[in-house]
Amino acid sequence: MEENHKTPQNVTVLGLGAMGSALAKAFLKAGHRTTVWNRSADKAVPLVEKGAVAAATVSEAVAASELVVICVLNYEILEKIVKPVADELQGKTLVSLTNDTPAKARQMASWAQAEGIDYLDGSVLVPVPEVGQPDALLLYSGPRHIFDKYFPVLRALGGKSTYLGEDPGHAALYDIAMMNIFYTSLTGVLHSYALLNAEGERAEEFLPFGRQVLALAGSFLENFAKSADKKHYPGDLDNITMEAAGIAHIVHASRDAGINVSIPEAVKGAFDRAVKAGFGANGMPGAIEGIRAPEKN
Ligand SMILES: NC(=O)c1ccc[n+]([C@@H]2O[C@H](COP(=O)([O-])OP(=O)(O)OC[C@H]3O[C@@H](n4cnc5c(N)ncnc54)[C@H](OP(=O)(O)O)[C@@H]3O)[C@@H](O)[C@H]2O)c1
Repeated sequence: MEENHKTPQNVTVLGLGAMGSALAKAFLKAGHRTTVWNRSADKAVPLVEKGAVAAATVSEAVAASELVVICVLNYEILEKIVKPVADELQGKTLVSLTNDTPAKARQMASWAQAEGIDYLDGSVLVPVPEVGQPDALLLYSGPRHIFDKYFPVLRALGGKSTYLGEDPGHAALYDIAMMNIFYTSLTGVLHSYALLNAEGERAEEFLPFGRQVLALAGSFLENFAKSADKKHYPGDLDNITMEAAGIAHIVHASRDAGINVSIPEAVKGAFDRAVKAGFGANGMPGAIEGIRAPEKN
């Protein structure tokens, strides 16, 4: 395995936005012979200076390597790029590191299988500067033998390159679940900062308290996961009716301060629906019952 890692391989990167360029750089740094293509050709210039070969067309880029990695904005664009070169990709391996939904990943895998293309779906879970670092997390799903075959090359992208299983949608699902935690929790942080600023306070003064509550929230991850899986929400220490009333204070205080209340109102909606469904006496993880069912009109 180690020997393979050090053996230069041919790899093609399609898409040279911020992330695609970082991927190409990491391959180059690991010594792989890297061919690059991007719709806007100028983005290849800094990579060529580092030793990459710029292909003039997608076909030329695909022809250069057995392993083709694509990283563009979404699957609509990905399909526009790869479908016209399906014949050239036949017998090769296509790895998508483009973020989209699990359903799109599964559709892409079915298309690739029908075209005779080996396909692995993946997600990059770190920001651009961390690509290629020992702690960089990348998730992959799809056929195990494809991951094993190309792991020695792909691990140049991050020390925590992790295989999740055969379902091609698995990496996208975990990516979405992680991004949801990232965006929703940090939007809560931004709401608190907006409230503090609206009341004439500096967010920086509040930092030690913000850190304390985020650490507390993190400590609940494991118990909430167990509760969610078992659908068991003991209400001996807290209950959702009390919590819904607490969240109403956030809505009222935000309204009093003259800021937008849509974020705490959305949270309150989940708790209120759980109470309405009969979970008011349960503990906080029971609020998941206000989320599991789609909204009824
Ligand atoms: N940046 C990050 O921190 C980060 C972190 C994790 C995951 N990701 C994921 O990585 C993927 C790429 O993100 P990025 O940051 O590289 O985005 P980006 O900098 O905006 O680059 C977008 C890429 O898509 C291409 N593209 C857009 N529209 C196109 C079209 N109609 N036809 C052909 N190519 C088109 C762009 O080509 P042009 O240069 O010609 O416009 C460029 O190569 C996304 O799925 C993103 O979610 C990004």
